[in-house]
Amino acid sequence: MLRKLIIGLLVLGFSISAAAKDEREQVQLPELMREHMLSNMRDHLLALEIITRNLAAGEYDTAAETAESRLGMTSMTSHGAAHMAPFMPEPMRTLGTAMHRAASRFAIKAKDAAVEGGLAEAFGALSEVMQQCVACHSGYRVH
Ligand code: HEC
Repeated sequence: MLRKLIIGLLVLGFSISAAAKDEREQVQLPELMREHMLSNMRDHLLALEIITRNLAAGEYDTAAETAESRLGMTSMTSHGAAHMAPFMPEPMRTLGTAMHRAASRFAIKAKDAAVEGGLAEAFGALSEVMQQCVACHSGYRVH
């Protein structure tokens, strides 16, 4: 009985530590670049918050502008994407580009929503942006 209990606890312990194990690939970046990237990331989250608030208020054009300038293809220069790209593994870079493209597509959907409604489509496109955030976060880390 006691033996079974001990074995049971050991199995439980192993499965919990397996679940908590961090399997993300670590990407080495020079210190300044890492800081710059994390600061961009915090701005990405802020941008999502502003965009959702804009949509809730029916300010579709503002939502589109925020998305394009802070997350979309237009933002790639200001975020120094070209400097950072060579340090990233290929699939990570692809996810980054997919995120910028998805944000630009969202901007178009949000503009459409301003003219002809279709808020559901705008939210669908926003979710595609967030899917790229989630995918990259579950695959990579910089610490
Ligand atoms: C191409 C990959 C990639 C994409 C796309 C991406 N991130 Fe990140 N993000 C990272 C990595 C890597 C980290 C660092 C995680 C770590 O080291 O633990 C990070 C960290 C963050 C952080 C923490 C910043 C800090 O100060 O520690 C926030 C917030 C964040 N991301 C938000 C977002 C949001 C919102 C999006 C989508 C709009 C997004 N990210 C898209 C890779 C990405």
